[in-house]
Amino acid sequence: MTHSTVEWEVEVSDAQDELPGAWVCVAAADEVPSVGDMVTRDVDGTPVIVVRRGDGELVVLSAICPHRGMIVEPVDGWTGRQLRCPYHFWSFDFSGRCLGTRGMPPLMNGRCDLDVVPHELRDDAVYVAIQR
Ligand code: FES
Repeated sequence: MTHSTVEWEVEVSDAQDELPGAWVCVAAADEVPSVGDMVTRDVDGTPVIVVRRGDGELVVLSAICPHRGMIVEPVDGWTGRQLRCPYHFWSFDFSGRCLGTRGMPPLMNGRCDLDVVPHELRDDAVYVAIQR
């Protein structure tokens, strides 16, 4: 579905009124129409990735690499079959699960995955809760 700018703004405003707490619209679903399409957004100082998974679902992930904190996939567009950190090339699937650390040992706490950011899809737009 395509929207005029006015229709889009009304739908976003209505959806934000329906959600409890503070939510912000981060993307239109049609910005990421195909598997592997992604956009990076800054949500209140926190970088997030909106990506379309292989099952067609949209997911919002933290864009902060668990290795050394670089921004994973800093350029919007089609990312291919996985997300990749440009610094040491750790890779992640579209659910945030770490696929490879390029031979580097896992972190001391065993965490190598990208965090999933709580999100909602309303009226073809993706919203995330602002954590305060
Ligand atoms: S900072 Fe991302 S792989 Fe090292």
